[in-house]
Order: sequence, then C-alpha cells, then structure tokens
Amino acid sequence: MLFFLLPKTMHTSFVGKRIIVGVTGSIAAFKVAGWVSTLAQEEAEVDVVMTESAKRFVTSLTFSSLSGRRVLTNMFSAEEEGTISHIGLSREADCIIVAPATAQTIARLTYGFADDLLTTTILAADIPVLICPAMNVKMYEHPATQKNIEIVKTLGYKVIEPECGNMACGDYGKGRLPDWHQVSEYLLKELSDGDLKGQNVLVTAGPTRERYDPARFISNRSSGKMGFAIARAAFRRGAEVTLVTGPTSLDWPAGVRVIPVVSAQQMYDAVMSEFSNSSVIIKAAAVSDFKSAEHHLEKIKKDDATLTIKLVPNPDILQALGARCDPKKQLLVGFAAESSDLEKQGRKKLEKKNLALIAVNNIASAQSGFEVDSNQLVLIDHNGVTELPHTSKIKAADMLWDYIVKNKLLKT
Ligand SMILES: Cc1cc2nc3c(=O)[nH]c(=O)nc-3n(C[C@H](O)[C@H](O)[C@H](O)COP(=O)(O)O)c2cc1C
Repeated sequence: MLFFLLPKTMHTSFVGKRIIVGVTGSIAAFKVAGWVSTLAQEEAEVDVVMTESAKRFVTSLTFSSLSGRRVLTNMFSAEEEGTISHIGLSREADCIIVAPATAQTIARLTYGFADDLLTTTILAADIPVLICPAMNVKMYEHPATQKNIEIVKTLGYKVIEPECGNMACGDYGKGRLPDWHQVSEYLLKELSDGDLKGQNVLVTAGPTRERYDPARFISNRSSGKMGFAIARAAFRRGAEVTLVTGPTSLDWPAGVRVIPVVSAQQMYDAVMSEFSNSSVIIKAAAVSDFKSAEHHLEKIKKDDATLTIKLVPNPDILQALGARCDPKKQLLVGFAAESSDLEKQGRKKLEKKNLALIAVNNIASAQSGFEVDSNQLVLIDHNGVTELPHTSKIKAADMLWDYIVKNKLLKT
C-alpha cells in the first residue's frame, strides 16, 4: 500500500494567510470580533482596519486583543511606530473582507472614494475583496444601495448576500450579517488557488429513508458529513457544486446548490437528471439497498409479537451511473464502507460499477466512517492503492481532491 503524504499547505485553510478585515460603523460590528478571534485561532494573520464610525461601536482594543496584532484606523499615521501605509497594507495581504459593510462605505467604494484608510487600501489593492453588507432592510432595499451593490460587483468585488431575519431596530427582512460558517466558505474560496475552477461537481451525501408506514422508516447510520465535506472542499477550490442529499441534521454548505431528497428512488431520479451536466460525480451517499415492498397507509399496530417486512431492492445508482457516464468526459468516484479486506472489497466494487476511483471508508475503527467527524480513506484506482491518514472529514475531502488533481484524473 502507498501512503499519501499530507500536502504542506492545505488548499482550504486559513493557516498563514494574511487577511485585512475592514470594519465599518454598523451595529453588527460586534459579531466580527468573533470572526477575528476565530481567524487568529486558525493561524491567520489578521490586520483589522476600522472606519471612524466603527470605533463608536467596538473599540480597537477589542480587535487588537483578539487578533494579537495592530489595528489600523488612521490614514495619516504612517510615520508612527508600528503602522503601515495603505499601499504597504494591501501589498502584504492575501485578501480583504469588509464586514460589516455599511451602506455608506459601499457607496464610497462605488465611486472610488479614498477618504479614509479602509477605502484607500481597497483602492490600492490588487487582491480579492469581499463585501458583507449589513444594514436595516429599508436601507438595503433602497434603490441607491441596490445600484451601488451592482456597481461594486462590476468592479470585481465579491458581495456576500445578507440574510433575512429580525433586526436590531425591530424590523424584519434582508440585511443581517450572515453567520461566520457561511462567510468563511467564501473567504476560503478567495484564498484557495482555485484548482477546481471550471469543474461541475455532483456529490451525493447522507442516508436515504425508506418508509414502511406513516411513522417508521428503514435507514442507516450515515450522517452526511463526508459528502458535505467533499462538496464544501470543492466549492472552496472553485468548482460549481450540486449536492444531492438524503435527510441530515447538517447546515447546508454555503455556495453549494442543494437538492434534498428522502428515498433512494428520489436520489436516483435527482442524480439521473443532473449527472449529464457534471464533469465529476462523487457518490458518497449511503443509499439503502432495500425498501419495503409495501407502503402501509396506517401505522402498523403492535398487536402481533413479530412483524415481517418484505424488502425489495432499490435501484443501484452507482451501477446506473457506471453504465451511463462517459469516462472520456466524466470522472466517476464511488465510496464504500468496509470493515475488513478493504482493498479486495474496494477493487471488486471499482470493477463491477465501472468507476475511475473508489474511496473506501474504514468503518472498523470507532473514529472512522459513520457519524464521526474524522475518517480514514483508502483510495483505489487502476494505478494502485493509496492509504490516506486518519484525519478530519474536511481534510480527508481535501486530500481526495488533491489526489484527483495531482493524478490528473479530471477530464476537463
Ligand atoms: C446605532 C446605529 C447603528 C447603525 N447601524 C448601521 C448598519 O447596521 N448599517 C449601516 O449601513 N449603517 C448603520 N448606521 C449608520 C452608519 O453608522 C453611518 O452611515 C456611518 O456614517 C457609516 O460610516 P462608515 O461606513 O465610514 O463606517 C448605524 C448608525 C447608528 C447610530
């Protein structure tokens, strides 16, 4: 067995990245203190640049304490010790995120204003700029704001749509700053080298449920975590991603088109209508092999001491894909969950289902496979067998993509 070495730089991580966080005068500024803290914990170097108004909401001391670094607010303090000019700032950074971005700052960016350190730094920057608008719903929906947002998009800035919800002022509507788990995905995408750009990736995840009466179903232990991680990693690396998922308790990944399904038949139908548009298809779902032959309209009573349910096979999605995919244009990757003879079982499935690559989950260990956050994958293709280290599911997903890219398995 070959061992695949962990790449030195993970494709989708904040480690060592230099990020400018521009904070402006919105009530949501306090939320970004948490983001800065998380980025610092994840070993990013964060320079916070605050507008004068932002300082009315959160002190610079809060941000410097959380980032462990300088907080810059004054454009004309370049001669002071420990400060840096707007040009130097943007040259040193990998990415700028403006969060929260007020209507006022967005308007100033629209017209290329350079009247404070943040706007001047952005104007001088040749790096990705993400804008996270946050404001009252009326301010957000105002035609002036909407027009400004359209203009900043044409300038190449990425605008992350605000969320709908209750506002600090008591109104309800669109304008809330999204949660970090959403925003961080877009930020990671901007920081990645985009090696999956141009790929249309279809991922399946989670279990399926096969109902046999109105209250009960047959399912399995799949949590969907591995498939979701593969979809998230693909999005971060620049792919257009569609995720067909059975029922899970996971948040839908940011930037990913999600098609929720329940039964194996629904997953089959969704996959069959999607796969022809995909350049990569990764089948990580744990599809129920069987379903009940009968659909009871009434809940089955427990009058009898025993209950016999007749099971019939579900359609085999992977088999159908293996027969229909064009191996010259499409990469088909399957998953298997095995507790012994990983290589033998994996190779059997690889051949039988006509796959280019199979990832075998080692479910013999409690820390691998179903439900848990970590996994240990064995990759088998026509070149050989590669055992990945035991790691978190998101890192395992990244390593799977690394393998696919490095071994030139992509078709377009
Ligand atoms: C309590 C309070 C909350 C505010 N919240 C927001 C907000 O969420 N979004 C926004 O666009 N403006 C908000 N404003 C208005 C901005 O602070 C104001 O437009 C300011 O000039 C923005 O300056 P800056 O963009 O340079 O930070 C708020 C003002 C106050 C007094």
